[in-house]
Amino acid sequence: MLYPAPPTIEERSGSEFIPAHPMPLRRDPNLLQIVIGARRSLIEGWTESYYRSGIDSFRILRRQIVFVNSPELIRYVVVTRHGNFERKSPQMRRALEALLGDGLFISDGETWKRRRPLVADIVHKRRLPEFGQTMEDAALAVAEEWGALPARSEVELTEEMGRLTATIISRAVFGKNIPRDAAQRVIDGFSAYQRQTDAFNLGYFLGADDGWPAFGGKRRRRAMAMVHDVIESVVNAHLAGEGDAGSMVDLLIRRNQKSGGEPLDLAALRNEAATIFMAGHETTATTLAWAWYLLANAPWVARHVHEEIETACGTRAPTLADLPRLRWCRAVIQETLRLYPPVPLLPRQALEADRIGPVDVEKSALVMIAPWLLHRSVDLWEKPNHFLPERFLSGTRIDPFAYIPFAVGPRICPGMNFGLDEATLCLAILAQRFEVRPREGYKVEPVCRLTLRPKGGLPARIVARSSRPPL
Ligand code: HEM
Repeated sequence: MLYPAPPTIEERSGSEFIPAHPMPLRRDPNLLQIVIGARRSLIEGWTESYYRSGIDSFRILRRQIVFVNSPELIRYVVVTRHGNFERKSPQMRRALEALLGDGLFISDGETWKRRRPLVADIVHKRRLPEFGQTMEDAALAVAEEWGALPARSEVELTEEMGRLTATIISRAVFGKNIPRDAAQRVIDGFSAYQRQTDAFNLGYFLGADDGWPAFGGKRRRRAMAMVHDVIESVVNAHLAGEGDAGSMVDLLIRRNQKSGGEPLDLAALRNEAATIFMAGHETTATTLAWAWYLLANAPWVARHVHEEIETACGTRAPTLADLPRLRWCRAVIQETLRLYPPVPLLPRQALEADRIGPVDVEKSALVMIAPWLLHRSVDLWEKPNHFLPERFLSGTRIDPFAYIPFAVGPRICPGMNFGLDEATLCLAILAQRFEVRPREGYKVEPVCRLTLRPKGGLPARIVARSSRPPL
C-alpha cells in the first residue's frame, strides 16, 4: 500500500481498559501522505506532539492551517473573537450547502444571528419533557425487537442505534404521525447524500477563499430531492394546519410567526428542519454505539450501571424523570463523548487576519479546533486514553474549554441537553434488560470522515440479562 494507516491500539488489563485509537505517527507526514491519510480518516495523521495542549501552524499548498489545542486559546477563538471565527470552513459549507441551504449549522453573519434564537428555543432543555415519551417509546420498541431476536444472532450496533435515534428525531421534528416510509426516505436520503459527498475541497487549498462548488452528480441530486420533498410536504401540511401540534416544525412555524421580523419562507423552514434532523441523528447514534463498545469491555463499570438502574427504577423501565439518579449512566455517556467525540474536528475560516497566542493568522486561514486531540491531551487529562467514567463523578471541575464534544461559545450545540438526555435514557432502558457482546476477535477501528465512527460498524450479540424485568 502506498501509505498504510497507522496501527490501532487497544489494551485490557485487570480493571483497566484503553479503547481503540490510532497510534500517533512517529514523524510528520509529507503532503501526499496528508492527503491520502485525510481522505481515509481525519484522526489518523497526528504525531505525539499534537496530543498535548498548544498551537501549531503549517501550510497545505497555498492555505495556512492553524491548529488550536489549548483551553485559553480556544476561548479566544470561539468567545473573544467569535465574530472573526464563527464562519465554518469552505469544505464544510460546500459539502452541506446543497442539502441544508442556509440552515443554522452552516450559516453565519446576520442569517445565523437571526435564526439561532429561534432554533435554540425549540430544542431547549425546558422542552425536553415534551419529547421524553417519544424517547422512551422508541427505546422500548428496540428492547422489544432485541427480546425477540433468535438466540446467538448478531446485530450491527451503529445501524441499530441509528434506527433508534432517527425514529426519535424524526418524530420530534416532523411529528409523531409521520408515516414510517416518509421518515425512512429522509434517513436514506441523508445517508446517500453523505456517501456521495467529498469533504475535501481542493479549490480552497489551491487559493479559492470560498472553495469550489461541490459537484454532486445525479445520485447526490436524487438524494437531496428525496429529503427536500418529504420535509417540504411535512412543512406544507403544518402550514395548512394538518401537522402534529408540538412537533419541532410546528414550533418553528409558530415562533416564526410571533417573531415579528421577516417570516421564514418554505425553503428556510425546510432548511432548519433538515438541519435539526441531521445534527441530532447520527451524533447521538454513534455516541450510543461507542458507549456499548466501552461498557462491554469494562464489566466493572457495567456493574455500577446495572446496580444504579435497579436502585433507581426497580423493575420498571427508566424514564426521563429518573435521569438525575442515573449518574453512572450519564458519566458513561460523558466519557464516551470525551473518547469518541462524534464531531472530532471543528473547522473555521478566519474572516480577517488575526493573532492567536503567538501565531499570526492570515485572512481566510483554516482554523481548526479538534476535540479529538484536546480530549486526549496528556497535560489536560489524567490517563487520557483510558475509559474512566469516574472522572465525571468525582466532583473535580472539568474545564468547559478542555471538554468540548458539543463545541463551546455562542455556536455551542443547542441540542446538547436533548442529545445527552436522549443517549443516557436510551442506554439505561436497554442496559436494564440486555448486555451487548462484541463479536469475538473483531478489530474495532475508529475513523472520521464527517463524524467519528467505528470502521465497518460494531457487530455484536445481544444477550438478555438474567435479572431483566418483563417488558
Ligand atoms: C450526542 C449528541 C450531539 C453531539 C455530540 C452534538 C455536537 C454538536 C457540535 C460539536 C456542534 C457544533 C459544530 C461546529 O461548530 O462545527 C453542533 C451543532 C449543532 N447541533 Fe448538535 N450535537 C448533538 C446532538 C444534537 C441534537 C439532538 C440536536 C437537535 C435536537 C442538535 C442540533 C444542533 C444544531 C442545530 C447545531 C448548529 C448550531 C449552530 O451552528 O449555531 N445537536 N452539535
